[in-house]
Amino acid sequence: MRIQDGCFTAFVALGLAAPGPAAAQRAAPGRLIDSLVARMTLEEKLGQLNLPSVDNQPSPAQLEQVRKGQVGGFLNLAGAQATRDAQRIAVTESRLHIPLLLGLDVIHGYRTIFPIPLAEAATWDPAVAESTARAAAREAAAAGVNWTFAPMVDIARDPRWGRIAEGSGEDPYLGSAMAAARVRGFQGKDLRAPDAVMATVKHFAAYGGAEGGRDYNTVDVPERTLREIYLPPYRAGVEAGAGSIMTSFNEIGGIPSHANRWLVTTLLRDEWKFPGFVVSDWTGVEELRNHGVAGSRADAGKVALEAGVDMDMVSRIYLEDLPALVRAGRIPIATVDAAVRRVLAGKRALGLFDDPYRGSSVERERSVLLAPEQRQLARSVAQAAIVLLKNDGNLLPLGPTRHTLAVIGPLADDHVAALGSWAGRGDPRDAVTPLEGIKTRAGTGTEVRYAKGCGIVDTATGGFAEAVALARQANVALLVLGEAGDMSGEAASRSSLGFPGVQQQLLEAVQATGTPVVLILMNGRPLIVQWAADHVPAIVEAWFLGVETGPALAGVLFGDVSPSGKLPVTFPRAVGQIPIYYNHKNTGRPAGTDKYTSKYTDLPSSPLFPFGYGLSYTSFEYKDLKLSAPSIAAGGTLNVSVTVTNTGVREGTDVAQLYVHDEVASVTRPVRALAGFRRVSLRPGESRTLEFTLTPKELGLYDQRMRFVVEPGKFRVYVGGSSEAGLEGEFEVRAGAGVERR
Ligand code: NOJ
Repeated sequence: MRIQDGCFTAFVALGLAAPGPAAAQRAAPGRLIDSLVARMTLEEKLGQLNLPSVDNQPSPAQLEQVRKGQVGGFLNLAGAQATRDAQRIAVTESRLHIPLLLGLDVIHGYRTIFPIPLAEAATWDPAVAESTARAAAREAAAAGVNWTFAPMVDIARDPRWGRIAEGSGEDPYLGSAMAAARVRGFQGKDLRAPDAVMATVKHFAAYGGAEGGRDYNTVDVPERTLREIYLPPYRAGVEAGAGSIMTSFNEIGGIPSHANRWLVTTLLRDEWKFPGFVVSDWTGVEELRNHGVAGSRADAGKVALEAGVDMDMVSRIYLEDLPALVRAGRIPIATVDAAVRRVLAGKRALGLFDDPYRGSSVERERSVLLAPEQRQLARSVAQAAIVLLKNDGNLLPLGPTRHTLAVIGPLADDHVAALGSWAGRGDPRDAVTPLEGIKTRAGTGTEVRYAKGCGIVDTATGGFAEAVALARQANVALLVLGEAGDMSGEAASRSSLGFPGVQQQLLEAVQATGTPVVLILMNGRPLIVQWAADHVPAIVEAWFLGVETGPALAGVLFGDVSPSGKLPVTFPRAVGQIPIYYNHKNTGRPAGTDKYTSKYTDLPSSPLFPFGYGLSYTSFEYKDLKLSAPSIAAGGTLNVSVTVTNTGVREGTDVAQLYVHDEVASVTRPVRALAGFRRVSLRPGESRTLEFTLTPKELGLYDQRMRFVVEPGKFRVYVGGSSEAGLEGEFEVRAGAGVERR
């Protein structure tokens, strides 16, 4: 690694000897931080814990703060030149020459925008998530970013919550696999490598459990639900080596996360042994006053720091209000030092003391951003994320006889929406829309005509007539309906989940023409599409697929690839069913024909489309379910094998899913819990035998004393292509000690 600009000076200033800072740091990794902490003033220490945001560029006042050692890093500063400029000031003009963390929300891409995380979870392919995170890191790092506020791993059981778009859906097992994969992808094999960025697992914890699906709202879940449902993905991210974790805006059972010492210190650091640092969310420290657990800014800072929140994003409270408290002896200096050490260790882990610029340059940035292989990856991932929800009469794929296609709807040619809610430094001009993709793929033999029909949210119906006329003249109408990109994501909760505006009326008007309709959904959350499911022959869930939306979608519509995505979240029939999720408990009165059972009087309890569901252009059969033993010891493992056959006439990919159910336990258990999955691609007629291994991790539970144990008794397994998989078997866990871990 090259020594650049002020970096060498920094090490000379620290008194580290030749032959160079890298060698010196490797020789004595602990000493670097000891040496710094020993020399820092209180203000410089608290400066390391201060994380301001820039508005494109740091202001002169912010740069002056860098010189004074009052800034530990910036967020929202990106671009090779701008980051180099700020970094140079930190390492050459501040007293201790400490480099900056440069953080950005690189959520589903930096410049090459990939499918939103929820869509990517529909691939059920952690290797895919790892590869897009890797690709996003490559671009972001080239632009001087060294830290991303991702992955967002919050479990969400409520599609009203707009941030469901940023996560992996409702299931802790799938969510954990995706969380770990994304951490590995962002950080690469070596965090010091110039194309790696530090990951931030967020939002710790249970941010997705907001009451009523209203963003930032109160979360009230018991420790059991926390441990079983919400915590596993954070833990998976931590175990994958994430360098940082972000506390969440919400409270849990009366304690805001930014003030929750049990969560941030006892659980995260003592129990899970998380060695990294904890960053607050945006003004999360200051917001402790609104939560009503701090009476002043200073109180808020004290509570957060003592809970274990190391870095204060945007509030400026640590920098401005804590010095007096420390000097007055109200906060021990050891508490400050511990936080400073963790932040400095993060910088060291990134190799910033060796090369604060991490090899970023304007030339490198130019050559990496939106490179052809990035776009290629975006296309293949987008294709794998598309979920075919309905396909009556095999309307799809579009055959060669469809001479006139009517492409209709407000999302059909929307470049902005295609990128989704959190598009890094993405440029809508890079996005290929559904209309553009369909036109290109259709070629000259097919006429593609377009009418917008209506807006996304406005209520004007003046465009209906043109759309209806177009549909009448076409062989097939492709309707692209859904949400604008910013209708999901942060602060984008909705109380109704139908199509916004007059899109439903447009759909009904086009359907009434009698021309076969393919409904293509673009959305960041499950929408309520009961009417469409009842009336429209084909429905394609296309989420927000990023820059390659059009080609990916066209590839599926025209049958170049068979759809293979599976829902990572349940699609309800009505808002009144929410929260609805597949891994629910049985209740004492499971739904039945009797009146006094758990159900609605006006709606089935079942979802419209279940978790794990998705069709293909071919069909699959599961058979020969075999268990390696009729019984296992508590703490033992069991192999489950099943043969999958492609029973259709074309190649396709299914996601084989394994679920378990513990029949009798000391606490209630979900009716099914995902315990394994595998994508399998098969030619027509081809079969493959898949093997899954069940371990205590999949079979255990938190008992009444919150110990993680595998209890003896009968277990049931289910295997198939969705959470309603029908093939089942059973085995027994024999009595014996089975405590695994807390
Ligand atoms: C607030 C969001 O909750 C968080 O996810 C994000 O990382 C920060 N803002 C920084 O942009």
